Amino acid sequence: MQSAVCPGSFDPLHNGHVEIIARASNLFDEVIVAVSANMNKRPRFSLEQRIEMARETFSYVRGVSVVALSHGLLVDFCREVGANAVVKGLRDDRDLLYETPMATMNRHLSGLETVFLPADGRYSHLSSTLVKEVHDLGGDISECVPRAVQRRLTESLR
Ligand code: PNS
Repeated sequence: MQSAVCPGSFDPLHNGHVEIIARASNLFDEVIVAVSANMNKRPRFSLEQRIEMARETFSYVRGVSVVALSHGLLVDFCREVGANAVVKGLRDDRDLLYETPMATMNRHLSGLETVFLPADGRYSHLSSTLVKEVHDLGGDISECVPRAVQRRLTESLR
């Protein structure tokens, strides 16, 4: 069985993430979405909320599960869950520059491979930061995020 980990902060999950995870689930028997605590980034949503939104979104997708990546190295997490690879989406050359050293370090540390999937053009402008900003300033992000996320974003402004 081939399994992959899709790691990220997902603060919050947007449709670009959803599309990459769905494509990963076509390539691997099992996909584990690993939601990073990532306290360096001062997330808008708690780890529990980010996990809940992702679980709700993928509840209908076979072979996709959502868990916390609360501490330690990604390579150790992947070994613990028996994953063969990490899958990441690339929107542009900045993503490539950001992701390549991490992919190379992970391979150096444990031989873990990273598979990069090019973002679909419909989603390559999306980022969690932009989604939050546009939403907070009154813009319509209904086509940018899953329902579970839109609801939580609206609640977070109340
Ligand atoms: O959504 P992000 O913030 O780009 O996700 C980054 C993430 C979670 C993939 C990265 O921070 C990570 O791998 N964290 C686990 C700690 C680790 O292994 N660090 C060394 C990476 S080479």
